[in-house]
Parts: sequence; structure tokens; C-alpha cells
Amino acid sequence: MKIAIITGASSGLGKEYALRLSEEFPEVEAVWLIARRKALLDELGAKLDLTAVSVPLDLTSDGDLGILSRKLEGERPDVAVLINCAGCGYLSNVEDTDPGLLSRMTDLNMRAMTLVTRAVLPYMSKGSHIVNVSSIASFCPNARMTVYSSTKAYVSSFSLGLREELRERGISVTAVCSGPMDTEFLDVGGIKGNSKMFRTLPYCDPKKVAAGSFRAAKRDRAFYTPRAFFKMYRFLAKVLPSTLVVKLAKT
Ligand SMILES: NC(=O)c1ccc[n+]([C@@H]2O[C@H](COP(=O)([O-])OP(=O)(O)OC[C@H]3O[C@@H](n4cnc5c(N)ncnc54)[C@H](OP(=O)(O)O)[C@@H]3O)[C@@H](O)[C@H]2O)c1
Repeated sequence: MKIAIITGASSGLGKEYALRLSEEFPEVEAVWLIARRKALLDELGAKLDLTAVSVPLDLTSDGDLGILSRKLEGERPDVAVLINCAGCGYLSNVEDTDPGLLSRMTDLNMRAMTLVTRAVLPYMSKGSHIVNVSSIASFCPNARMTVYSSTKAYVSSFSLGLREELRERGISVTAVCSGPMDTEFLDVGGIKGNSKMFRTLPYCDPKKVAAGSFRAAKRDRAFYTPRAFFKMYRFLAKVLPSTLVVKLAKT
């Protein structure tokens, strides 16, 4: 049975990926929805016109990552689409941030994304797609979100390297580098109302980001950056000295 796996499916962008999935990938018969809040996964699953399986997991827990590995080993699905969307970002200087929150960002954004991908890869075949949700924060470090932006630089770098590794197997890997979206992310991370940068930047619509990501994955694009404004930022961050851009990119 062809399935899709979406992490971070209980809200925001991950939920939009789930809602759009069957339109973009009609061959996919079932989707595993992963996040911690089971009630939200069940509610979303009931709205989908394909078989939805809620898989409530805390991806920062080794025990829960083991549950996913054992489920894969037991069911041996044909994974046509893997979307690594779960992520979090907290706004404050490194020195002022609770160490637990620092490790939550590194564990979820980098470690979990890496280990979920490793666990799923044996069940993917030619023509399948991996979508890793990175951020414009990957283009240059953002002071006051230093750890978050560093984790997203990892996501983009990991995706590009993995893409080369998987070329011969015919599996596409796309890193999605969105600008700000008005999702729970902003409340969870203490960003809403506390960052001039987030108040000033243009916002991306999660529905459009989900649609654009799927288009980019099907076209085998390495990166997808929505909106001309952020495409221009990506270019400037590449050509200007990073010591200058980092001063302009402070959150
Ligand atoms: N919003 C933005 O401005 C923005 C901009 C660029 C990139 N992004 C990236 O977009 C992705 C999606 O974020 P969003 O904006 O949609 O925010 P969101 O609504 O807060 O979504 C985050 C998702 O991650 C899940 N999650 C959090 N901790 C988890 C854990 N320990 N284990 C499993 N799942 C966990 C959450 O579900 P539970 O709480 O139910 O576990 C939720 O489904 C993230 O990777 C984020 O870095 C966001």
C-alpha cells in the first residue's frame, strides 16, 4: 500500500500538507499523521478522503522514535511521500534561554528529522519524494534565534547532501524555505509581539506554501522559497558577506 508520512501534522503547515495530499498524490492510499496531540490528529484524519492513521509521538523521545521504527518494520509500507515538518523555534539570546528549550530545538529540528528520515528510507522506492521543512532562517544566522536558524541551516544542508545520495535511487529531496507564517509556531516560540523583524516582514500563506512545496517536489527541485521578497533575500544572503547580512537579519 502506498502511504505518506507527515510529521508535525496536528497544526499549521503540516496540517495543510495533509489536507492537500490526495489532490497532489492520488496514488497515495493512506497517511500516517505524526505529532504529540492525538485529538488534533484524529480530528484532521476524519476530514481527509484517504485512510488516516494517527501516530501520536514525541519525536524528541528515543522511545517514541523506536515506536515509529517498529511500526515501519511491522507494516513494511511503500512510502511515496515523507514530509518532515515538525519543528519549533524560541526567540531569545542563547544565554537567556532555558537549556531544555535549546535542546528541544536541536532534538526536534535536526535529530528527529534525521532519524525519521533514516528509519523511513528503506521503505521508499523510485519516484518517491522527501520534503524537509527548513526556513529562510537557514540562509543566514538570525541573532535572538541563533539556535533555531542554525538548526534550519542543518536541515537545508542535510537535504542537499541527501538529495545527491538518493539521485541514483530516483528519490527527490526538497528543502522548503518559507518566510514567516501565522501559525502556532509564533506563540509557542514567544515570537508574537516580541520581534520587530517578524512584525515587518511579509507573511507566507501556509496553504500556498504546501501547494508550492508539492509542485517543487514533483519537479525535483532542491529548494522551494515562496515569494519574490524571500527569493531575493536568499540571493543576497549568498552574495553579500555573512558578517554584514547577520547584522540586518536580527530577529
Ligand atoms: N511559522 C513560521 O513562521 C515558520 C517559518 C518558516 C519555517 N517554519 C517551519 O515550519 C514547520 C511547521 O511549523 P508551523 O509554522 O506549522 O508551526 P506549528 O503550527 O507550531 O507546527 C509545529 C508542528 O510540530 C509538532 N511538534 C512540535 N513538537 C513536537 C514533538 N516533540 N514531537 C512531534 N511533533 C512535534 C506540533 O504538534 P504537537 O504540538 O501536537 O506535537 C505541530 O504539529 C516547522 O519546521 C517550522 O520550523 C515555520
